Amino acid sequence: MEKRCLRFQDISVSEKMLYSLFLMTIGIGYLFALTHMYYTHQMRDGKPGMSIQDVMIAYYGSQDQTRLGSAINGGPMEPNLKSANDKEKILVWLSTGKSKTDFEQDIAPILARDCTLCHNGETNPGLPNLTNYEGVMEVASSKAASIPGLVKVSHIHLFGIAFILLFVGRIFIYCRMNVTLKRVIVVIPFLSMLIDTLSWFVTRNNPSFAYVVVASGALMGLSMGAQIVISLYQMWVETFDPRLYLSANQQLLLKKIALSFQQIVSPIVSASKAYLLKFAPIIWQQLRIATVQISLSLYHAAQYQLHPKLTLTAEDQLKAPQYAQTLTESGYSVWFAGNGWLVKESLLTWSFFNSIDALGHYIQHLPHQQSASAEPSEYKV
Ligand code: HEC
Repeated sequence: MEKRCLRFQDISVSEKMLYSLFLMTIGIGYLFALTHMYYTHQMRDGKPGMSIQDVMIAYYGSQDQTRLGSAINGGPMEPNLKSANDKEKILVWLSTGKSKTDFEQDIAPILARDCTLCHNGETNPGLPNLTNYEGVMEVASSKAASIPGLVKVSHIHLFGIAFILLFVGRIFIYCRMNVTLKRVIVVIPFLSMLIDTLSWFVTRNNPSFAYVVVASGALMGLSMGAQIVISLYQMWVETFDPRLYLSANQQLLLKKIALSFQQIVSPIVSASKAYLLKFAPIIWQQLRIATVQISLSLYHAAQYQLHPKLTLTAEDQLKAPQYAQTLTESGYSVWFAGNGWLVKESLLTWSFFNSIDALGHYIQHLPHQQSASAEPSEYKV
């Protein structure tokens, strides 16, 4: 027999609670990570807001922005400076040759006061050392991200995220879905994380790779987000078919309810069906008649408007009242208005004749004339 893997319906509620809290915490943590990324990178190009430029500068470096310059000019280190004047001093120094004498005289005191508490090479060896000229020059030249720095961030990043993806993916595997799709969704975050990290190093030498960094980073976020959302959804919203968990009594009750519901509803449905079948042809026929009548009337009214005034011969002048009388006696009203006759056949239809001969021809073919009791044609109301 094929081995069936566990699904969310097989695990206990406490397990689901644990997983849900974990997933939500990871989700919130990820949002904070995005915010942190925004704060550290957004000002790198000197303009607020994240752009591809920011990413390029972070890894490839920039001709006019140094790491020190962007850190204090809108970057995360700016709040550490006690006065805005000092920021200007440092920026001026950065853009005017960065000489050692100027450094000792103007810059070192500022850094000693505001920065070396953390950036002293001892309390926090990972941070740039700002206690001496050489250390400051490390971040004062427009260099690409350093390889040791990238290696450090990469190993932390890969170790940390691999664990997150492992647990998120492990929970996600409990979902019910197409197996191929599931395999793809499990693989994508890992692949994109690896591509993301490797492209940091490539971007160091080739800034256009910043697009790969952004695309693979976004793909990782999206696929991990999808795993979290789908898992939470299947755990709590779209739970599995509850019939499996009903006792025999409960199933019986459910059947009874369904049955009585059916007994009430099915007569209503069949009655309305019968009415519908009965009246549908009538309604349909009336609709057709009305449509034909209205369009014919419109057609004749248009013709009436378009025809020029009639000049009646003496003969015509005799025939016209005769014809009008014949028509009126058969139940048609006639209206002469200079350019012909409009004959009203029913509530809506009007026919137009712009010569006495046409009117005569029409009278010869009137159904009412042939037999007084003739069935009215389809187009008469
Ligand atoms: C409270 C401790 C603290 C103080 C004070 C501090 N920094 Fe930092 N600094 C940090 C930390 C932590 C990082 C690493 C942050 C990161 O990478 O997101 C950092 C990173 C930096 C970087 C590197 C940015 C980059 O591009 O990687 C520079 C440059 C910098 N600080 C300059 C300064 C200057 C200039 C001052 C004084 C005005 C200062 N820092 C004051 C803690 C501090």
